[in-house]
Amino acid sequence: MISCNDLYKNFSDKMVLSGININVGAGEIFGLLGPSGAGKTTLIRILTGQLAFDKGTVNVMDKNVLDLSGDDRKKIGIMMDSFGVYERFSCKDNLKIFADIYGVPHDRIVRTLEEVGLGEAASRRAMDLSKGMRARLQLARVFMHSPKIMFLDEPTSGLDPRTMKQIHSMILDKKNEGCTIFLTTHNMEEAAQLCDNVALLNEGVIAESGAPGELVRRYNHQKKIRIHLITGDDMELPQDAESAGMICALMKEGKVEAIHSSEPDLETVFLELTGRKLEEVC
Ligand SMILES: Nc1ncnc2c1ncn2[C@@H]1O[C@H](COP(=O)(O)OP(=O)(O)OP(=O)(O)O)[C@@H](O)[C@H]1O
Ligand SMILES: [Mg+2]
Repeated sequence: MISCNDLYKNFSDKMVLSGININVGAGEIFGLLGPSGAGKTTLIRILTGQLAFDKGTVNVMDKNVLDLSGDDRKKIGIMMDSFGVYERFSCKDNLKIFADIYGVPHDRIVRTLEEVGLGEAASRRAMDLSKGMRARLQLARVFMHSPKIMFLDEPTSGLDPRTMKQIHSMILDKKNEGCTIFLTTHNMEEAAQLCDNVALLNEGVIAESGAPGELVRRYNHQKKIRIHLITGDDMELPQDAESAGMICALMKEGKVEAIHSSEPDLETVFLELTGRKLEEVC
């Protein structure tokens, strides 16, 4: 549904994206993970046809992004910064403007506001919304015309854990309805929970990509099994046949409280590949 090949983008003489290759299949949630300044928003702007690029090819829904028709663009939903939010207008009027542009019947407006949990705030002005409510309004704007592809630039950035969870569940609902979702985040837990595939972007270059589980297994250099015993002691065993007997005996004796494998998390993989943390600024 979304692909780019050998994509390059410079701003003046500063290289911002270099040799980017991405392939996102239909119905997939794809996460672009990278620290501040890595080039995530720039890539979304290119993939949505908002920004020109210097070299490479970009295809969306099997068409060159530069050749998408007005009808094709209606199949795309974009959430980024304050894109499409009219501050002085109420939530309802914000969606009304958008519904008229996209030819969406007005009865969808209230339903969509209710879907994102803004039913009671329908008459509140955008400028008076909390951060979480604002994110919901932006999602409502994306959801209302039932796009086939959604681009969500840091959809949960700065939100409290409860709102974040609710937004995750809305995103998963859209995936279950068959939508393809491209999102960016600095939050590796979010990426691990939501995404079928991720790409780790650092200073405009993709350092690694793949399914989150497969990536962390690929970087599991230690190959250890950690056992927490009911006595409170911890044991670390090599991941081999010899350990199997010992683990089996401990379990039969009812001594095991928890068993963990030694895979790193995505943050640790990113650190190993780039020497930096996802929360850093490029
Ligand atoms: N219009 C522009 N003109 C010049 N440089 C730009 C422009 N837009 C972005 N940049 C630069 O490109 C680089 C990547 O920026 P981008 O906004 O894509 O990063 P990001 O990964 O989205 O960061 P964040 O997580 O902070 O949103 C940064 O160094 C930024 O300063
Ligand atoms: Mg950004």
